[in-house]
Amino acid sequence: AIDENDQLLVTLEPCSSQGKQPPCVDALLAARVRRVIVGAVDPDPRHRGRGIEALAARGVEVELLDGAAPLARVAPHFVEWVGADRVRRPRPWLIAKWAQTRTGQLMPPEDVGAGRWITAPPALEEVQQLRARVDAILTGVGTVLADDPRLTVRRPVEVPCAPLRVVVDSELRTPPSARLFQPLAAGEHAGGVHLFCLAGAAPMRHRELEAAGAIVHGCFPDRSGRLSLREVLGKLWALGVRRALLEAGPTLQQACLEQGFVDQVRVYTGSVNGGRGPSLAHLLSSAAWKERLDREIGPDSVLEAFRANAG
Ligand SMILES: NC(=O)c1ccc[n+]([C@@H]2O[C@H](COP(=O)([O-])OP(=O)(O)OC[C@H]3O[C@@H](n4cnc5c(N)ncnc54)[C@H](OP(=O)(O)O)[C@@H]3O)[C@@H](O)[C@H]2O)c1
Repeated sequence: AIDENDQLLVTLEPCSSQGKQPPCVDALLAARVRRVIVGAVDPDPRHRGRGIEALAARGVEVELLDGAAPLARVAPHFVEWVGADRVRRPRPWLIAKWAQTRTGQLMPPEDVGAGRWITAPPALEEVQQLRARVDAILTGVGTVLADDPRLTVRRPVEVPCAPLRVVVDSELRTPPSARLFQPLAAGEHAGGVHLFCLAGAAPMRHRELEAAGAIVHGCFPDRSGRLSLREVLGKLWALGVRRALLEAGPTLQQACLEQGFVDQVRVYTGSVNGGRGPSLAHLLSSAAWKERLDREIGPDSVLEAFRANAG
C-alpha cells in the first residue's frame, strides 16, 4: 500500500517489462509514488535490477533493504519459478489435478456416477474456478477416448482468458467428431484445441483434425520413445501459456509427475469405495512435496501441495 507520504514498501523489485500485465514500474509512476522501499532484487537474470533503475531514472527515490525479505522464505515458489533451468528452458507452471476414490483410483467403479464422477458438486464447481484461472487445460488422448470431455469453463465464473484445450496424442487418435470440436454453448468459455503428436503421425487424420478446427503440433520423441512432454510444455510456453492445469488420466499424470514437470498438485478424494485402474498415491507420499494443505469440500477432501524442488 502507498502511505500518506507517497511511499511504497514492496517485497520484490517492481517489474519493468510487459508480460500479460503492463509493467508495475509504469503503474507506480502513474500513481506518482515518491519513494519505493524494496525488500529484494529480482533474482531473474532477465529482470534483475532493471525495475530499480527504471524508477530511479524517472526520479523516484529507491531504497533497497537487501535481505529484509528473504525470497526463499517469503516467496519460495517464485524462487523456483526463476531457477536457472526454468529460465533456460521455460515451461508453464503445471498444476496436476485429479479426483480419486477412497482407494486412490482415478476411475470409479462402473456403477458409480455413470463410471465417471468421483466427487460431489462443490468439488466440481471448484474445478471450474481453477479452469478459469489457467491459460491451458491439458489431457491425454486416453481421457478423450474414454470420456469425450469438452474441457471448457461452464460455471458462471469470471474468465479472464479462455484456457486453451490441449491433448497429448502421439498418433492422433482423437476423433474429429470429439465434443472438443463442437461449438461452444452460451455461457461456455474455451480457447482453441491444440493437439500434440509425433511429427509426421497419421497424415490423413492430421488433415481431418485440422478441418475439424484443431491446431496440430508435431513433436520429437523423448529418450524412451514417447512424445516429449518437455517439448510439449516448451511449445505451450511459446504459445503464451504460463499456468496450465493437467486433467489427465493416470498414464499422463504419472508421466508428468515422474519427469518432474508437476509444480503443484490438487487431489480430490471422493467418498467412493473401490475403483478401476492404478493409484498415484505412491507418487504423493514422498518428501518431494511441501506446504501440504488438507481441507474438506462438501463431502470430499482435498490435498494441495507444491513440489519441494520445483524449478
Ligand atoms: N479421476 C480423474 O481425475 C480423471 C481425469 C481424467 C481421466 N480420468 C480417467 O482416466 C481414464 C483414462 O486414463 P489414461 O491413463 O488412458 O488417460 P490419459 O492419461 O489422459 O492419456 C494417456 C495417453 O496419453 C498419451 N501420451 C502421449 N504422450 C505421452 C507421454 N509422454 N506419456 C504418457 N502418455 C502419453 C498416450 O497415448 P498415445 O501413446 O496414443 O499418445 C497415453 O495412452 C479414463 O477412464 C478417464 O475417465 C480420470
